[in-house]
This record gives sequence, C-alpha cells and structure tokens, in this order.
Amino acid sequence: MLELNNATIKFGGLVAVNDVSFAVSKGDLFGLIGPNGAGKTTCFNLITGVYKPTSGSIKFKGRELSGTPSNKVAQLGIARTFQNIRLFRALSVLENVVVAAFLRHRVGLASAIADLPNSIRETQELKDQAMALLEVLHLDKVAHTRSCDLPYGMQRRLEIARAMATQPELLLLDEPAAGMNPQESDDLLRVVRQIRDQFNMTVLLIEHDMRFVMNLCEKIVVLDHGCEIAQGPPEAIRSNPKVIEAYLGEPV
Ligand SMILES: Nc1ncnc2c1ncn2[C@@H]1O[C@H](COP(=O)(O)OP(=O)(O)O)[C@@H](O)[C@H]1O
Ligand SMILES: [Mg+2]
Repeated sequence: MLELNNATIKFGGLVAVNDVSFAVSKGDLFGLIGPNGAGKTTCFNLITGVYKPTSGSIKFKGRELSGTPSNKVAQLGIARTFQNIRLFRALSVLENVVVAAFLRHRVGLASAIADLPNSIRETQELKDQAMALLEVLHLDKVAHTRSCDLPYGMQRRLEIARAMATQPELLLLDEPAAGMNPQESDDLLRVVRQIRDQFNMTVLLIEHDMRFVMNLCEKIVVLDHGCEIAQGPPEAIRSNPKVIEAYLGEPV
C-alpha cells in the first residue's frame, strides 16, 4: 500500500531522513519508532506532501506520491494526526468531525446553495456518520462539548476521529498515546485494533510508549539520526542490540 524507497530529505546541512526504505502492506499495524529528532515526523511530512523528498521515491498503491500536494494526498486516501494536537478548539466534538468529513464529501458551498434540500439531507448523513465514528472512539457522550474543554486523552482520540472522517485507506498517527496514562493507552490500543479490523484501515504510527507499540504493532521500523537501523516484528526489534543502544536503553 505504501512504499518508501531510499527516501531522503535534507534541510541545509542536516539529512533529516536518510535513505529510508520500508513497505507497509494493506491491513498492517505498522510502527515507526526511534529517539527524538530521528526523522519520524519528517517521514509523515514526506508521505503527506508537506515536503518533497530530496531524492528517493514514495509510492501509495503503486502511484508516485513525491511532489503531490497535501490536499491531493488526502484525496488519494491518506489521513494523519499531528504530534501537536490540531483541533477547531471552539467547535464541538461532533462539529470537528463533520468539518473533516466535508473535506471528502461533495457537499460544498456551491452545491449547498444550488441544491439546498439535498445538501441538508447529506449534512444529516455526515452528522450520523460522525456520531458513529465518535462511538468507536468512545466520544459519543461528549459529542456536544467544545473540543477545548475535553481532557487531553479525549482530544487525542478526537484527532483520530477527525482523520477517519475523511475515510482514508491509510491512517498515519503521530504519537497517539502521548500524555496518556496506562489505562487510556490500553483503551486506545483496543480502539486502533478495532479501526484496522472494522474499518479495514491500514495504520502507520509513531509512538514512544513501548508497551503500546510492542503490543499493537506487527511490524516496526526504527530510525536513528535519519537512518533506518532496524526493521522487523516486535520480538526481533526489542532484542536488537542496535535498537537497544540507540533507543531502548535496555531490553523491553
Ligand atoms: N522544516 C525543517 N527545517 C529544518 N529542520 C527540520 C525541519 N523539520 C524537521 N527538521 C529537523 O529534522 C530532524 C528530525 O525531526 P523530526 O522528524 O521532527 O524528528 P522526530 O523523530 O522526533 O519526529 C530534527 O533534527 C529536526 O530539527
Ligand atoms: Mg516527531
């Protein structure tokens, strides 16, 4: 589904992502880990068209993504969340998801004016779909709360609901469990599994919570200083001496 081949990006003298190659297959729960500054978020920025690679290629379902603008990448079926939460703070939880769904849906301003009865019906459909998503993310009970009034863990889950509202095939999550307590991250783990199983989404995620990553992901790639230092299933990664030295510190 997603293939990075020797992807490289330089910022001045810094090679933030250096010759990185990995492939994510349909249905994978795939982890991207490594120390701060390793180039993980930059990989997401390359995939989603925020940056164009200096060299190398990034393919989505066989199609070259490199140089494709972000809005087009979203239309192709890739959605992401951000390491720093980005929500419409003054809007309700439900409104945040509906706004995201509009991105994908044909209800635009012009069609809304031209075809009012239809667009009202479609907006109701979007609201129903948004509520269904909120149930999956266990946010239905706070649907009408302003997003800025939510506790942090719920804001993170709302970010995921928003990304899912565009009905992507590939979901990129940047540190979804950051700041969560063990109970919250266990709940999130079950939810992400459900997203893959029930919505047939492929998930590529960045995370520092090793319990979360090792329990959830089936394949992991490890970056350090922009370079890929290991790739494999969690059992192999947790005992890999290079990974222990660069990142884990001790076997987990
Ligand atoms: N737009 C940019 N300009 C210059 N340097 C950048 C830019 N984006 C990221 N970097 C640098 O690239 C490196 C990798 O950053 P990042 O991908 O955010 O790491 P992380 O693995 O923690 O997500 C860091 O040294 C960061 O400062
Ligand atoms: Mg990051």
